[in-house]
Amino acid sequence: MCGIVGYCGNGNVSEFLPACLKRLDYRGYDSFGFSVLSNGDHKILKRVGKLDYFAEKIQSGNIGIAHTRWATHGKVSEKNAHPHLSCDKRIAVVHNGIIENHSSLRRALERKGHFFSSETDTEVVPHLIEAFLCEGKGFREAVTLACNHLEGNFALLILDKKSNQLCGAKNGSPLVVGLGNEGIFFASDPIGFIDYAGKAIFLGDGEIAFVKMEGNSEIEIFGFNGEKKAAKKAVKINLRRWQAEKNGFKHFMLKEIFEQPECIESCTAGRIKNSLPVLEELEGFNGKIKKTERIVIVACGTSLHAGMIAEFLIEKLWKVPVKVECASEFRYRCPVIGKNCLVVAISQSGETADTLAALREAKRRGAQTMAIVNVEGSTIARESGAAICTKAGPEIGVASTKAFTTQIAVLLLFALYGAVQRKTASKEEIKLIVLELKKVPVKMREIFEKKNKIKFIAKVNSKYSNFLFLGRGIDYFVALEGALKLKEISYVNAWGMPAAEMKHGTIALIDKNFPAVFVGASGALLEKLRGNIQEVKARSGKVISIINECDSETAKLCNEFFCIPKTHELVSPLLSIIPLQLFAYYVADEMGREIDKPRNLAKSVTVE
Ligand code: AGP
Repeated sequence: MCGIVGYCGNGNVSEFLPACLKRLDYRGYDSFGFSVLSNGDHKILKRVGKLDYFAEKIQSGNIGIAHTRWATHGKVSEKNAHPHLSCDKRIAVVHNGIIENHSSLRRALERKGHFFSSETDTEVVPHLIEAFLCEGKGFREAVTLACNHLEGNFALLILDKKSNQLCGAKNGSPLVVGLGNEGIFFASDPIGFIDYAGKAIFLGDGEIAFVKMEGNSEIEIFGFNGEKKAAKKAVKINLRRWQAEKNGFKHFMLKEIFEQPECIESCTAGRIKNSLPVLEELEGFNGKIKKTERIVIVACGTSLHAGMIAEFLIEKLWKVPVKVECASEFRYRCPVIGKNCLVVAISQSGETADTLAALREAKRRGAQTMAIVNVEGSTIARESGAAICTKAGPEIGVASTKAFTTQIAVLLLFALYGAVQRKTASKEEIKLIVLELKKVPVKMREIFEKKNKIKFIAKVNSKYSNFLFLGRGIDYFVALEGALKLKEISYVNAWGMPAAEMKHGTIALIDKNFPAVFVGASGALLEKLRGNIQEVKARSGKVISIINECDSETAKLCNEFFCIPKTHELVSPLLSIIPLQLFAYYVADEMGREIDKPRNLAKSVTVE
């Protein structure tokens, strides 16, 4: 998704803006652009492609904005790259999100004589502000009026050459203000200014922050209703610089895979006492947990797979019905939600537009809400009744890895915590599972010691164009995630499905060129799974499997297998996903793919 950054201060934008924009690289983009105020004019530079190959020097100045574009409205071109200007070239705008009523606004502005030079939805914004300025409004009033006319999600940075002002407006898309020694920064994510600002102000929806270049730049926040807001408390940014570096790894994804033992440790630290789960974030929420009659989980992509695992865990431990839904579909049905229904939104970024919309719909229908996010202070966290942070640290690789395993760890703790509150599982059973959870980091490290085996399996199988990922019970959800990992970073066709469902149609695809990856690491339903393996073998299909170390019986049936340490069934996804993440990584690396920034994908999907 698009990334936006802005700077206003005593330093030089030519130092800050390219570096800040580069930090947002992970979001995925196809073109980029800058506007710097210099000698009373916007100096615009736009290019198609990646910043990696950008060696030009941008103009010097003390105030400027920049943008990475992930095309939605209009093809990838310099013309469509941001910033966009008003006709009189007074106002420059960069934007993340979608202006849904752009067509009608554009028609009205064109009728008034405005000339558009791009196909984007964004370009209506500078023209709309210009229209209000032409009516005699000041910059602040014109921006506020424009924001009130826009429908959809947006985070905007607006630069006015006449008043030497920069402002950021937020409605639905993320926007954070960074307070640094050398000035004020704006970015879609605090990672953008991590090198220059130690404190941040998270803007709320319907807020505009204005910064004026007058001696020391200062910030004032106004609502879309025009009223000045009380000063907001700045929060310390909790991202250590090293977390945004590759630290010697070839890709962020590989680094993040190998960080998982420490991430699980930091995620569970302080959340286990006397071998029982403790979730301080849910204090005050316990009454609701006890009353919950039904749970609905909304999420997308990898977070959706974590949600499916949660369904399995919670139904088993709480004995209440749980439904998992693609967040994007939730609000377009008529979901039956009562006040004793708990809706849980899962999102690494906490900004995914589909998940946020589902959460808002659930609230509108009177549900209790809870969020599991990796970014504290994110919109989904702020708008939920309670929020639990997964504490995985910044995840830069587009393919989610450590966010997934920490989501599962939090969801397991949540399932166990609820079972204690509701008295639906014995303390002995709960303690046994918690004990296994505590052993996960050590067992993950044991898997990493055997990484060369999975690298070899990946290498010999990287010639295939199609894969089936199959599992039963809790292993099925791991199979789905394994397939998603492979397809998103290698562009190889990979499907996940329940192993037994294959015979209802998909088995027609199996031949010697269509390998099947079986996940049987939970140790459950193994006899049944072996039957499904035989079905593939009988059709000359190649079988690769992820099994636990005690399962020599299944190993004998497979062409290739990878063993993980034995653990409790409900804990097993935390281990069985590791070889599949590595498999996807090594296949993609063998194929020379752009692993951290796969084509067409964005890290934070802030459009519907
Ligand atoms: C997973 O590797 C993908 N990057 C994607 O499916 C992601 O999980 C999805 O877009 C949801 O993102 P979120 O967790 O930030 O809401």
